[in-house]
Amino acid sequence: MKEKSFEITPWKVSGDIDYDRVIREFGVSRIDENLLKRFEKVSGELHPFLKRGIFFAHRDLDWLLSEYEKGNEFFLYTGRGPSGKIHLGHLVPWIFTKWLQDKFDVELWFQMTDDEKFYFNEKLSLEETNRLAYENALDVIALGFNPKKTIIFTDTDLAGALYKYAAKIAKKITFSMIRASFGLKESSNIGQIFFTSMQAVPAILKSEIEGRNVPCLIPHAIDQDPHFRLARDVLPKLGYYKPASIQSGFLPGLQKVEKMSASNESSAIFTTDSEEEVRAKVMKAFTGGRISVEEQRKYGGNPDICSVYQYYYMLFMLDDSELNNIRGKCLKGEIMCGECKEILINKINNFLKEHQRKREEARKEIDKYIISEDSDLKKLLAKKR
Ligand code: TYM
Repeated sequence: MKEKSFEITPWKVSGDIDYDRVIREFGVSRIDENLLKRFEKVSGELHPFLKRGIFFAHRDLDWLLSEYEKGNEFFLYTGRGPSGKIHLGHLVPWIFTKWLQDKFDVELWFQMTDDEKFYFNEKLSLEETNRLAYENALDVIALGFNPKKTIIFTDTDLAGALYKYAAKIAKKITFSMIRASFGLKESSNIGQIFFTSMQAVPAILKSEIEGRNVPCLIPHAIDQDPHFRLARDVLPKLGYYKPASIQSGFLPGLQKVEKMSASNESSAIFTTDSEEEVRAKVMKAFTGGRISVEEQRKYGGNPDICSVYQYYYMLFMLDDSELNNIRGKCLKGEIMCGECKEILINKINNFLKEHQRKREEARKEIDKYIISEDSDLKKLLAKKR
């Protein structure tokens, strides 16, 4: 998607995102009040990410809920392109996925696209993206996914089992479809052109294993939607359900309100950052403060353009009364940006301390989650459709 003010592709997000326009241009559906009510009826409660519109759009979520109510249980599928460290933005869809897994007690297939990051990043070797996949898996496991119902895998390790399905999908996709969906060019390497067929495969793995169509729900931020728009086009032609999906917006970087990106080190907070690094980054954050303390006391600040407030809204003040309290204080000039940043620093550091501990523990747990042998997936797939 490219127009004057912002750009969203699976590989680049920039500018001031207008989410209403995203809904129109991507052709996703807004999650409205009716759907929220329906969701609450089925799941028993709503996650703050839903109440706050952080997950704001979907494809076929209503269908998925109807199937679930009929007893046709779904499975979850999400993933990571292992190109470096994990930042707080990546955790947004994963925290929500973990909540969905707990609420519905369903399986999660988690794809590590080491091939994708090799094709799209000039500097990374395939060995390095594969190594990063295993490092990044520690962050996923640290979030507490159910080891009995979570399968993490990398594309290259399981290529022997996955390739057959990718080939069937690839045959239904033309270069012009890829060009239209991803903006690739004739000079793009052919791995990039082929890659989306690999990202479609996990949406059908469970159906292949079970020998019947199983509904699939894919939580992700909106940048990944072009992959699944294509997958939804192609998979019914091969006899599968269209995967349903649910899309979040982006946790912004700290410098200004746009997507947090690992390529801007000082604006992204990584899960492995030290307390001092977090402090230094938050202290430099862009806020909605006035030019002087006097002005701020008199006129108040503007939380709606403030990256610190966005961090509260999206991750660190999921309790409404706490959030409204700080918002009120900011608007009335009762709290200065320095104090507000201190609160955020404490919250992030408390979260990261726990996360880093669990991340280290995950090194011992990783075998419970990962399938790294082709033959193991092939065994699961042995019961053919
Ligand atoms: P990747 O590694 O770029 O991102 C992993 C997940 O994080 C989301 N995301 C964000 N969410 C909120 N705020 C941000 N600032 C932010 N930045 C990234 C992404 O949308 C994604 O959900 N090709 C994929 C890997 C993949 C995948 C999938 C993702 C394979 N299969 C299925 C989602 C669903 C990728 O490179 O994601």
